[in-house]
Amino acid sequence: MAMISLFLIFLLHAVTVVTADLRPGFYRSTCPDAESIVRAVMKRALIREPRSVASVMRFQFHDCFVNGCDASMLLDDTPTMLGEKLALSNINSLRSYEVIDEVKEELEKTCPGVVSCADIIIMAARDAVALTGGPDWEVRLGRLDSLNASQEDSNNIMPSPRANASALIDLFKRFNLSIKDLVALSGSHSIGQARCFSIMFRLYNQSGSGKPDPTIEPCFRQKLNKLCPLNVDQNITGDLDATPRLFDNQYFKDLVAGRGFLNSDQTLFTFPYTRGYVQLYSTDQSLFFKDFVNGMLKLGELQSGRPGEVRKNCRVVNGQSDDLMLE
Ligand code: HEM
Ligand SMILES: *[C@@H]1O[C@H](CO)[C@@H](O)[C@H](O)[C@H]1NC(C)=O
Ligand SMILES: *[C@@H]1O[C@H](CO)[C@@H](O)[C@H](O)[C@H]1NC(C)=O
Ligand SMILES: *[C@@H]1O[C@H](CO)[C@@H](O)[C@H](O)[C@H]1NC(C)=O
Ligand SMILES: *[C@@H]1O[C@H](CO)[C@@H](O)[C@H](O)[C@H]1NC(C)=O
Ligand SMILES: *[C@@H]1O[C@H](CO)[C@@H](O)[C@H](O)[C@H]1NC(C)=O
Repeated sequence: MAMISLFLIFLLHAVTVVTADLRPGFYRSTCPDAESIVRAVMKRALIREPRSVASVMRFQFHDCFVNGCDASMLLDDTPTMLGEKLALSNINSLRSYEVIDEVKEELEKTCPGVVSCADIIIMAARDAVALTGGPDWEVRLGRLDSLNASQEDSNNIMPSPRANASALIDLFKRFNLSIKDLVALSGSHSIGQARCFSIMFRLYNQSGSGKPDPTIEPCFRQKLNKLCPLNVDQNITGDLDATPRLFDNQYFKDLVAGRGFLNSDQTLFTFPYTRGYVQLYSTDQSLFFKDFVNGMLKLGELQSGRPGEVRKNCRVVNGQSDDLMLE
């Protein structure tokens, strides 16, 4: 009997742990300066290297789509676990992990063992938008960090830059994100850059046709051909929209003009189901901001229901040998 009630207590405890109740001001009593510390480090990162805040903002997408917002994408590979950093969409592409390390170090100095890496990603993504001229909003916090990561899950889930709007609509639907959410969240490409690697096919061999994507506006295509000639180092990067340091609705104006960088961007204007939202956001920046914030809140709610912890180092699970060696 005692065994059974102990087991029940354990079960109840596990359940409360796995479905974290997210709420604003979660760290108000345990780490009151948490949000201002994250903001300050992001401000420094922006001054040091403007692109880095866009790179960090992207983490929210790559984290939350793969087994919920649990900082699984921040785990380094170990001899027994292939992490997500080398997954198809992340390798040679995700960057600025060191900004999260810097935030974590500052938080560990002020309130050790309190603020999860998963929540740091959510706060930092919000700050990246607010610091580059976009909306500012209150985030719900209280996430836990995963105990593992899955390269395979990331490979299976994260979309290719070749994706068309109908594939993206289906993917987002799996996460209860609507067509409106898809278009608004794609507006995150208002800041940052992408590699030639991500557009070579659309410049030279769209859908195996041996020809460029016909939806690219001709002058813009000339510009892209110059940036990414056939024999280019495909790590060279170009801007995702005409104002890559400013979070604004320029991205949507560019799509309407056939000047989207990625195929997955331009397809949102080509396809009838998404085109209306692109047109709307291209003329109404405040509507874009409102729908974007709503999309980020929904994206940030995704949870795996698995047990977790507050990591001491965002790159390693607590109590692993790697972790011990650092101490
Ligand atoms: C709709 C599906 C999406 C696709 C197919 C997609 C794909 C991509 C690709 C291919 C890149 C450039 C990678 C490279 O060339 O190295 C990129 C960059 C970026 N993505 Fe997305 N993305 C999508 C949605 C999102 C969402 C929802 C967010 C954020 C909430 C986001 C934020 C970013 C940012 C900020 C960058 C620039 C990063 C930098 O400059 O380092 N993306 N995305
Ligand atoms: C990660 O852990 C969860 C349980 O917490 C388990 O269901 C999942 O299979 C694990 N994934 C990998 C890749 O080991
Ligand atoms: C969109 O992409 C999917 C998956 O690659 C493909 O099966 C489908 O035919 C494409 N749809 C259109 C209308 O091009
Ligand atoms: C989507 O919503 C349904 C119904 O509310 C829910 O059962 C399901 O778990 C949700 N899926 C995700 C990925 O959140
Ligand atoms: C274009 O792609 C098709 C199909 O993937 C391939 O067979 C063909 O060799 C490619 N052409 C060039 C010029 O790369
Ligand atoms: C980009 O650079 C990395 C190393 O910095 C290299 O391994 C990779 O092959 C390069 N990728 C391309 C597409 O050239």
